Amino acid sequence: MNAAISNSAQASYLAPVFAQYPIEVVSAEGVWLKTRDGRKVLDLYGGHAVAALGYGHPRWLKALEQQARSVLFQTNAVAMEVRERAAARLVRFAGLGLDSVFLVNTGAEANENALKLALRITNRAHVAAIEHSFHGRTAAAGAVTHGAASKWYGFPRAPFDVSFIPRRDEAAIAQHVTDRTAAVIVEPVQGLAGAFDLGRPFLEALRQRCDAVGALLIFDEVQCGVGRCGQPFAANLYRVVPDMITTAKALGSGFPCAALLMAPTVARHLKIDMLGTTFGGGPMACAVIEAVIDAIESEDLLANVRRISALIRETCEVGPIVGSQGAGFLLGLKTSRPAKEIQRELLERDILTGTSADPNILRLLPPFTLGESHVVELRDALQNLG
Ligand SMILES: Cc1ncc(COP(=O)(O)O)c(C=O)c1O
Repeated sequence: MNAAISNSAQASYLAPVFAQYPIEVVSAEGVWLKTRDGRKVLDLYGGHAVAALGYGHPRWLKALEQQARSVLFQTNAVAMEVRERAAARLVRFAGLGLDSVFLVNTGAEANENALKLALRITNRAHVAAIEHSFHGRTAAAGAVTHGAASKWYGFPRAPFDVSFIPRRDEAAIAQHVTDRTAAVIVEPVQGLAGAFDLGRPFLEALRQRCDAVGALLIFDEVQCGVGRCGQPFAANLYRVVPDMITTAKALGSGFPCAALLMAPTVARHLKIDMLGTTFGGGPMACAVIEAVIDAIESEDLLANVRRISALIRETCEVGPIVGSQGAGFLLGLKTSRPAKEIQRELLERDILTGTSADPNILRLLPPFTLGESHVVELRDALQNLG
């Protein structure tokens, strides 16, 4: 039984697979959550990197309502202008020349498709991933998630060979990425690992090695993409262009959707029926994708992410915070005592933050609309924690 429901002494019929925070959210606006017991909580976690525009953004609401009234759903077998527009908008927003888009529903689904394509195109059976990575809970995405096998991977075997490269270890790349390797999959800024930025030299070295051995480079930007790093994608930030990008979370700012962006060298292998999905590319998702990119561009939210992120890094190294890592609004604050303790104490002060696989990293994934006054609230609260 979850904590919030158990408080009201009602049975929960939800599968008991999630640890839950001790709050129950009943509504939200901007960067604020309202709880059942009447508290107003500053959301620096953004629904796990999802709520890019915050809550109740007028552009998002309008797009969803208009599309719902116009055409609620149509399969990919039926042409729709809104789907074409969303794909074109995403390609232009990225500006990386990855100009073929396959729209899906979740981050894991995007990664499954990217890996499937890489294995098929190269006709190889090995994938290299990075230590401490997280790519999702399905068969292929889970297989390239570091540590999944011993923790929660439920399949009897991985669908291909996998090896893991130590982070930022450029010298180790050649031994893991060989002419047997179909693809390297990497989160340029690792999310669950604690907003750990792998940096340009390592990413550039991966690019070079992939080119040398004919492997494909996949950037998993499910968490770090669509503006979260203060650029359209981390690929823009690090100036390293992969063969494929997978993205989700911020892409729909709460409406479930995901995308696989492919370079022409990948897309030229595509044939009818090679990939498929029922709900992916649905018109509601497409309308929302357009609205999210619209808002990011017209409200200059990338600049806001960069500015406020810098402000957090400059001013919030107080109390138990001893440093920071990550990029933009995928920020890891290094803590002098367990991050879980600090998270709990901040929530008692009405600020919601995240933790990570690193016990000494407090993770911030706030809406892109976060402002200076919110940073002051965070700083003051941290200062008071000691
Ligand atoms: C980097 C990364 N890849 C993939 C996923 C899986 O995405 P989804 O839960 O939408 O399947 C996540 C989810 O947290 C993620 O952070």
